[in-house]
Amino acid sequence: MKLSHVTVLGAITGLAQATPMAKRAVTNADILNYALTLEHLEATFYEQGLKNYTQEAFMKAGYKDPFYSNLKQVGSDEKMHEEFLTKALKAAGAHPVERCTYSFPATDPKSFLALASVLEGVGVSAYLGAAGEIMNKTYLTAAGSILTDEARHSAYLRAALKKVPFAQPFDNPLDLNEVYTVASPFIASCPSSNGKLPVKAFPALTMDSDKSLMTGSMVQLMADKSFDGSSAKDIHAAFITVTGPVWAELKDNGDNKYSVTIPKGVAGQSYVVLTKDNTKATDDNIVAGPAIVEIGQEQKMGGMGEMDGMSSMSMPSTAMSTSSMPSGSMTSGSMTSSSMMPSSSFNGAPGKRSDMMTSVLGGVFMAAAMLV
Ligand SMILES: *[C@@H]1O[C@H](CO)[C@@H](O)[C@H](O)[C@H]1NC(C)=O
Ligand SMILES: *[C@@H]1O[C@H](CO)[C@@H](O)[C@H](O)[C@H]1NC(C)=O
Repeated sequence: MKLSHVTVLGAITGLAQATPMAKRAVTNADILNYALTLEHLEATFYEQGLKNYTQEAFMKAGYKDPFYSNLKQVGSDEKMHEEFLTKALKAAGAHPVERCTYSFPATDPKSFLALASVLEGVGVSAYLGAAGEIMNKTYLTAAGSILTDEARHSAYLRAALKKVPFAQPFDNPLDLNEVYTVASPFIASCPSSNGKLPVKAFPALTMDSDKSLMTGSMVQLMADKSFDGSSAKDIHAAFITVTGPVWAELKDNGDNKYSVTIPKGVAGQSYVVLTKDNTKATDDNIVAGPAIVEIGQEQKMGGMGEMDGMSSMSMPSTAMSTSSMPSGSMTSGSMTSSSMMPSSSFNGAPGKRSDMMTSVLGGVFMAAAMLV
């Protein structure tokens, strides 16, 4: 992790300014180009990573065969997505965006994989969040088939990093602006011929701590200066879930700094935003974020150790707890833990999905840094 936050925030601010907050209707072509923007980023990321780090380097880092060939497959999948979306846009008579130049804070196989895992998670959230915007059923099915593939990548990489592959029963959707906020730090510049997508980046929200996190832990967040925290009197923190925001206890420490307590009902790769009221967490009242927060849970026992390519990796050293899923899960929406997610269904062999190991990530950079 050599890139400083200053660089990151500079990139975010620059892009936010370069992208007017255009409020026009989102077209099918916009959505495809938005997806293509992400696929360009991912495809380039794997292309670079597989060039930068040899199979031997991954082996040395503890990722044995067939890990490297699987990684190559993941990279090839992203390239196929890229080609598919480009073709679809051309077929629809639209101009496909081209690759940009990127800046990835990966320096070795470990930091590369940590970032890969975060990016795949964002990919899943991006396709999920965009699904509702896709009016054409043909495109919806195509996007769905990419989403499921990204979800498999995410699970594989999470497992390789000794995180619960499927940390919760519902994935978190992110809307276009939320995704753009977390993706833009990696985009250094784009060809002007790409034109402007109807997206904007919110002020960045970063974490100044890299300690492990779990339900009840406190996270220190800092909003970028493009948000004037001193003039905002009633700031709230919300974790984004499919059933709506899960509100978290927030303490305003002044100077754009906030302490947020991880609420029940969020696990795995999670997203927290600051909002200007506590009615909803949508584009019109998000003031900063999302920050990416990895909320850890008990690792699956028996099995993981035998997985190909991971046998030499040790279990996380964090103390284990045997408590089950927080019972208040998903309380923010209409679903309740008793009706929708009977805890017993997750408590059978081979493992429990309980609170155990947690790690916090703040902004994508901290996110990846943490996993190294
Ligand atoms: C690959 O290496 C180049 C040159 O050092 C670096 O600029 C780039 O960020 C690296 N990319 C990844 C994904 O590791
Ligand atoms: C959806 O997109 C496909 C592929 O471009 C096209 O053939 C079809 O006519 C579109 N359907 C609608 C309802 O626009």
